[in-house]
Amino acid sequence: MELIKLTWGVPPVESFPIDRLQECAESVLLTQGDEVLQYGKSRGYPRLRELIADDKGVDPDRVIVGQGSLQLQDFCARLLIEPSDVVYVEEPTYDRSLTLFRRAQAQVVGFPLTSDGLDVERMEERLADGERPMFIYLIPDFQNPSGTVLSEEKRHRIVRLARAYNFWVIEDVPYRRLRYRGEDLPSLFDLAPDRVLHMSSYSKLISPGLRVGYVVAPEPLASRLAEFAEDTYINASYLNQAMVAEFIKRDWLEPQIKDLRGLYEPRLYATLRALGEHMEDLATWQKPDGGFFVGVTLNDSVDTDELLSQARDQDLLLTDGRNFFTERQNGNGFVRIPFCALTPQEIEEGVARLAGVVRGLL
Ligand SMILES: Cc1ncc(COP(=O)(O)O)c(C=O)c1O
Repeated sequence: MELIKLTWGVPPVESFPIDRLQECAESVLLTQGDEVLQYGKSRGYPRLRELIADDKGVDPDRVIVGQGSLQLQDFCARLLIEPSDVVYVEEPTYDRSLTLFRRAQAQVVGFPLTSDGLDVERMEERLADGERPMFIYLIPDFQNPSGTVLSEEKRHRIVRLARAYNFWVIEDVPYRRLRYRGEDLPSLFDLAPDRVLHMSSYSKLISPGLRVGYVVAPEPLASRLAEFAEDTYINASYLNQAMVAEFIKRDWLEPQIKDLRGLYEPRLYATLRALGEHMEDLATWQKPDGGFFVGVTLNDSVDTDELLSQARDQDLLLTDGRNFFTERQNGNGFVRIPFCALTPQEIEEGVARLAGVVRGLL
């Protein structure tokens, strides 16, 4: 039986624009070799920062481009969090962010996700009771791991709370441009550019191996982040950042995103179709219009170790759903299905095997 990896939340190799990146690398080395091969300012390669700043309508000094967005997230965590500070997250959330926040010794509080984003009422209650988080970390568009999109109404409410109770919002949007249907909602940054650290990355749009991500931060945080970056790595690779800038200047990013949508949309709908066919009586799931993931919640909690091991016996690899939860046991029965790196046939077969394993456990 062919091994199916429902663990792979990465872009497939066929999505990489290798020839175009080769042209960008050649052109950058030929025309800007002196600059990109030298040390540079820690905020990042100026021309890429200007392109991002133009797009967001901010001063380029507010844009920090780093070695992937995850490291910038780590900088934010280490700059902002004092031991035992409270940090709010969605539950489930991106497992690596949980690790970063815990490493900075935050007390991480999770708010359960419903179909339109996290439970804001519960958040309001805790704030009214006197809790004061340093920030809330959100993935509002096609969330990893669940696929959820935060509703516009909740976006407004969260921003109002952030202003009223004086906390930062970190919004992480690496999947925002990967919308296959429907209309974009305003980002939290659009609603409150003074309160929101907006971060994203070219990992899911061009290539994760380039390690180019960015954060748009309010001052004085941007300057503090730049100092932190300088003391960590002097500057992140200008060569890679200049390649991304060249890619954008040649007007290749929008066609690339269009191609990605064409590649991923059938994979998303294959996932939703397969779930409907095989798991209707076993689970509920998000029905996102974009992104990389569909989060599945089994109707009955299962022993996750058993689930993972029995799936492996069926040549099916699953990610441990408990990793995405602040209280690990809440993740018994949560399965993340990353669909972008699998063909529709592999998805259909993978979901059928998953359903068989779950039925065997009931
Ligand atoms: C929500 C989220 N944030 C950040 C990252 C890391 O991105 P980068 O490659 O820019 O470090 C990922 C990668 O999967 C992600 O899903």
